[in-house]
Amino acid sequence: MDRHVPVIAIDGPSASGKGTVAQKVAQHLHFHYLDSGALYRLVGEAARYAHVSTSDEPQVARLAETLNARFDNDNIYLNQKNVTDAIRSEAAGKAASEVAALPLVRQALLLRQRGFRTKPGLVADGRDMGSVVFPDAMLKIYLTADPAARAARRYKQLIGKGMSANMAALLQDIKARDDRDSGRAIAPLHKSSDAILLDTTNLSIDDAVEQVLARYAAATQVP
Ligand code: DC
Repeated sequence: MDRHVPVIAIDGPSASGKGTVAQKVAQHLHFHYLDSGALYRLVGEAARYAHVSTSDEPQVARLAETLNARFDNDNIYLNQKNVTDAIRSEAAGKAASEVAALPLVRQALLLRQRGFRTKPGLVADGRDMGSVVFPDAMLKIYLTADPAARAARRYKQLIGKGMSANMAALLQDIKARDDRDSGRAIAPLHKSSDAILLDTTNLSIDDAVEQVLARYAAATQVP
């Protein structure tokens, strides 16, 4: 890991739009992009394939250590199988949040995540990018939106992909995931004191991207 490589950490709850914002910021700056949630989703999916329970910590951690994952542009592969859409299902999200609560799994994914920090820079999105994985990130953003707005976005996303969706169930799921992600003992989701709060309830994606880029420009300005 090169500590001189700048990192922009974008954390926040499920369906807050942080993935899209982070990707666009990375594109704009020609930085690399780390979707850390995808790693937890891949571990959940690997457990499902291997018929390992998401509560079997040692076995799930072993799967995380040996995870054969490949990120290729917009495609994600697990053991050479394209799982880009499969890991976005609600079931995969639930499994991801269960394996993400296991300390040995988080430990197993730590170095892999830090390995994404290469020149010219990295935009990393997740729950603990600014607090645990890249505590020295030069810019930390906590991106959120109210649960109803997030459920509506997830609904649109799933329908757009031809998947079935139910608003009430999605809202319930988002609230349950928030509780699980912020209530867990290790690396819980929370806004750290050095992160800038960005509420996107009434903001478009482009507005949010613009705000992050403006913060980045301000942070890199020589006084
Ligand atoms: O961002 P996402 O919805 O794809 O994340 C899937 C799950 O992984 C989510 O429930 C929380 C967990 N996660 C985490 O614990 N830490 C991260 N850095 C990223 C995701």
